[in-house]
Amino acid sequence: MSLLREANGPTTAVRREDYTAPAYWIDTVDLSFDLDPIKTRVLNKMRLRRNPDVAAQALRLDGEDLNLARVLVNGAGCSFKMDGNQLVLENLPLDDAPIDLEIFTTCAPEKNTQLMGLYVSQGTFFTQCEAEGFRRITYFLDRPDVMASYTVTLRADKKRYPVLLSNGNLVEEGTLPDGRHFAKWVDPHKKPCYLFALVAGELVAREQRITSRSGSEHLLQVYVRPGDMDKTEHAMNSLIASVVWDEARFGLPLDLERFMIVATADFNMGAMENKGLNIFNTKYVLANSATATDTDFANIESVVGHEYFHNWTGNRITCRDWFQLSLKEGLTVFRDQDFSMDLCAEPSARAVKRIEDVRVLRTAQFPEDAGPMAHPVRPDSYVEINNFYTVTIYEKGAEVVRMMQTLVGRTGFAAGMKLYFARHDGQAVTCDDFAQAMADANPLSDLARLLPQFKRWYSQAGTPHLRAEGVFDAAARSYTLTLTQRCDPSPGQPVKQPFVIPVALGLLDANGTELPLQLAHWSQPETGTRTFVLTEASESFTFVNLDSEPVPSLLRGFSAPVVLDVDYSDAQLLGLLAHDIDPFNRWEAGQRLALRRALQAIQAQGPVPNDPLDAAYLAAMQAVLHHPALDAAFKELVLTLPSETYIAEQLDVVDPQRIHAVREAMREQLAHALHSDWAWAFETHKNNGAYRPDPIGTGRRALAGMALTMLCLTARSSGDTVWPGKAYQRFKDAGNMTDRFNALSALVVSGQPLAQDALSRFHSMFRHEALVIDKWFALQASAPDRDGNVLPAVHQLLAHPDFNLRNPNRARSVIFSYCSANPGGFHRPDAAGYKFWSERVIELDGFNPQVAARLARALDRWKKLDEPYRSAAREAIARVAAKPDLSNDVREVVTRSLAD
Ligand code: BES
Ligand code: ZN
Repeated sequence: MSLLREANGPTTAVRREDYTAPAYWIDTVDLSFDLDPIKTRVLNKMRLRRNPDVAAQALRLDGEDLNLARVLVNGAGCSFKMDGNQLVLENLPLDDAPIDLEIFTTCAPEKNTQLMGLYVSQGTFFTQCEAEGFRRITYFLDRPDVMASYTVTLRADKKRYPVLLSNGNLVEEGTLPDGRHFAKWVDPHKKPCYLFALVAGELVAREQRITSRSGSEHLLQVYVRPGDMDKTEHAMNSLIASVVWDEARFGLPLDLERFMIVATADFNMGAMENKGLNIFNTKYVLANSATATDTDFANIESVVGHEYFHNWTGNRITCRDWFQLSLKEGLTVFRDQDFSMDLCAEPSARAVKRIEDVRVLRTAQFPEDAGPMAHPVRPDSYVEINNFYTVTIYEKGAEVVRMMQTLVGRTGFAAGMKLYFARHDGQAVTCDDFAQAMADANPLSDLARLLPQFKRWYSQAGTPHLRAEGVFDAAARSYTLTLTQRCDPSPGQPVKQPFVIPVALGLLDANGTELPLQLAHWSQPETGTRTFVLTEASESFTFVNLDSEPVPSLLRGFSAPVVLDVDYSDAQLLGLLAHDIDPFNRWEAGQRLALRRALQAIQAQGPVPNDPLDAAYLAAMQAVLHHPALDAAFKELVLTLPSETYIAEQLDVVDPQRIHAVREAMREQLAHALHSDWAWAFETHKNNGAYRPDPIGTGRRALAGMALTMLCLTARSSGDTVWPGKAYQRFKDAGNMTDRFNALSALVVSGQPLAQDALSRFHSMFRHEALVIDKWFALQASAPDRDGNVLPAVHQLLAHPDFNLRNPNRARSVIFSYCSANPGGFHRPDAAGYKFWSERVIELDGFNPQVAARLARALDRWKKLDEPYRSAAREAIARVAAKPDLSNDVREVVTRSLAD
């Protein structure tokens, strides 16, 4: 990568192999804040000592956007210099005695538009320090392997900031002259500075006292703005469930007397796991049945769980350096996925959750792994760490942990976690340390046997392809399955070594009955799913005692994050869809059938066919819809066609408009052909009694919503006004946000004339509910494009009085919904979508580089585009890259994107 420049001088890549231990340790930190939006004073008293393992050298402290007023060493003034953003102290005492360092700085929270460090949101102070935001609060060794004990004193005007919070326990509070007051907090646990937090403002809390299994008492609090209390019950319930689950599943208790969650409307990310003081985007806290959908409720549960689980996986044991980010994120995503699954009573609901997680992996991570930003789960270098909070670190990282569990078993995995904590509690460690603990706790496992090779999942980027070919030998009554793996080159990695791939499989006979599995050398057959571990580039497995050619059900439960290439016939796929005992593969068979038809229509010459679907596919979907034993949630997933993004990934050359047209044609045909079935589905699933966001109700509402959309789609071409009328009525009468929003969406998605009226009613009903207004914006920006109608609508939305680019949720609801979630609307032959994108990237970069850099990734896959899109996209990216004063964040993304 070329040198990247910013105002402060050249910025180069940070490399993992350059890691060295810090030259100093910071044992204690005593911070005092005089909070003021214009000018906050920060007194930072640290006790340091030299790290005896590192050669004596100057102390270099990180700082950013700070005004430095004073530096004292052991109580006396001292010489220092600035080197770029670093404060350098060259003449510290050379002996082993601890050093008292006192630094006094000021900063301007109200001017902090990046939302990193100390900032103001709706009159309340918040902090965000991960990854490198603490340096925007005070000078420090801003790296995760420096763990210190914190004491924090907050002082502020008592009227405007009645609530003063920081990490740990409140040890003292009181009033001060001039209407001010103070609070002193002590965190009993050592922590890296990225876990520091403070909050000060006018807030109220829902409180709950709990007693743990071991008898310890804790206070749980969810802080929100006055007026939002009626939206905190679900977050609190999710927190209680998280505490119970981590103790039951892994024996990991809550280690604090007090655990707080605080919600803010201005947040770059979803939520943050600061020790004992989690800060959340309001989107992942606030919910009641009138304002939040089933999806919101489910997201809140998993995000609350995720941040809570970090308390052990991330906070008690943290990362040695940011290259190890997946150590905490991949593991914690795996834990939150497992938590959400365990809260599902029914196995079918667990399968639905797995399908949803895999869908995210395949539509977001697989493209990342095949594009210019591809990087290993443990990257080797980065320019801007903020750009590496990616779906690869998170979702692929979680799949790597899941494969470990597959290889050692569920109990073995818990034993591995136990050993990991026994060895490393209180330390900053690496991904190697985690994998080693898992292997050492399970010495007889495939993981232990294959550990160095298994760890290629951490070092090699790219999604492996797994090819499966079966040959039946009727005379020998045997079936030989050959599995072959390959992985394409990715940036900086031309050649890949074979991965360890756990392949969970079963065999079905022609009637769909599960067959016993018996390898040639086994004395006995086995029943049910078995996991075979592929380690070579190619391996064959011969199954015996088979009377007829079996149908293989491969990669059950999506046992590895790979692309599976198999030449199934339609008949085989229809059989798997109807009979497989593995619900994931049942869904997968339906997706393969739909994808095959989509690709045929896309690749055919001439205009888009009206009827891309055949009778066999439609009959299979009809059977699924009416199936007496399947869950509504599962039906909705099977009946949902593969997304435009997923379809695009299967093609070498992408014409986004053709993909959009074909998928819309398929959807219309599915709507028409099954019209009476959709009407039946709607009528039988529309009533669900009192609202509860449980899997059964959620599934029924999802299927009813889908049916309504299909019925309105058909009405559009038939001229029927009855179903749009029913949708409008349901929109008005709905008893919960899920049904209301689904009805509104049915009208908007089908382009019904009633949609405009419904939209304006919806807006006036909820104009004081910011999160609902976000949905209103997002629905319009992501609506299916009809003759280029979305971009003009998006321009109007930006001019709406409720639009505010500075609020990340609002910016995402319009701009990201359009650029990243609406390929048919965004990829315009006239390039106006790309022009819009480049303007917004540059505009956002002027005040919030982190959000801008995420938007910059919307054109990652430009090289796959057909003309005229490809050249127009490259020009748009080049226009952004040509801007001289870009942030490092955006510059890294566009530079990589344009690299050959
Ligand atoms: N540690 C992250 C939050 C974070 C991310 C801070 C990037 C700074 C930079 C937190 O644990 C997290 O992963 N949050 C996710 C949600 C989660 C459920 C996957 C997020 O914010 O998107
Ligand atoms: Zn996380």
